[in-house]
Amino acid sequence: NNNIVVAIDGPAGAGKSTVARAVAERIGLPYLDTGALYRAIAWKLDREGIAPEDGERISQALASFRLEFIPGGLMADGTDVTAAIRTPEIDRIVSAYAARPEVRGALIELQRAQAKNGLVADGRDMGTVVFPEAELKIFLTASAEERARRRYKERLDRGEAADYDEILKQVVERDNYDMTREIAPLRPAPGCIILDSSYMDAAQVTDAISSLASRFM
Ligand code: C5P
Repeated sequence: NNNIVVAIDGPAGAGKSTVARAVAERIGLPYLDTGALYRAIAWKLDREGIAPEDGERISQALASFRLEFIPGGLMADGTDVTAAIRTPEIDRIVSAYAARPEVRGALIELQRAQAKNGLVADGRDMGTVVFPEAELKIFLTASAEERARRRYKERLDRGEAADYDEILKQVVERDNYDMTREIAPLRPAPGCIILDSSYMDAAQVTDAISSLASRFM
């Protein structure tokens, strides 16, 4: 049986997407970046001037909102938003939208539908809410300083300006928001393996998770 689900959760900048993508390729399963879905919704609602507090308008807007996967990216209502959802501005606003029940409800079935042939998925509630029956659940974390350092380096590598202290502050704020929200808060799922990657590189984390996953395949 190769149709296993590997659920990877953890705080911002722990390396989830890098590692999840590499694990998926290694073990031959599709990869789903659920943070991108929340980012695309935040992008859309913000552009339409809809505040995170406005549940009614959020529901209305989401009723006709179309998300489509394209190779290596995401389309929102026919616009390629792959790059637009990776800005510091979206980093800053995404969690307030992601805390809304209307937003989370709109994404549950879409996420589960991707798992028909097995899946490696990363996010905040993969193991706790979306895929509680996943064969393998990983909570991938690292110290806040190390996570901020990785984000900082990512930005510099992309040729963008970056301020380490500012990034650290934002990373800590976003994690607190995600961990203390009422619906689907970020926390280790029952039965998960907690992996601290503070002193591991992406290749080591990928090896560790792939070898755990292969036991179920
Ligand atoms: O993983 P990424 O940084 O792209 O996630 C952006 C935000 O989307 C998170 O800070 C969180 O608020 C939200 N999110 C979520 N549930 C998920 C994935 C992301 O609430 N499964």
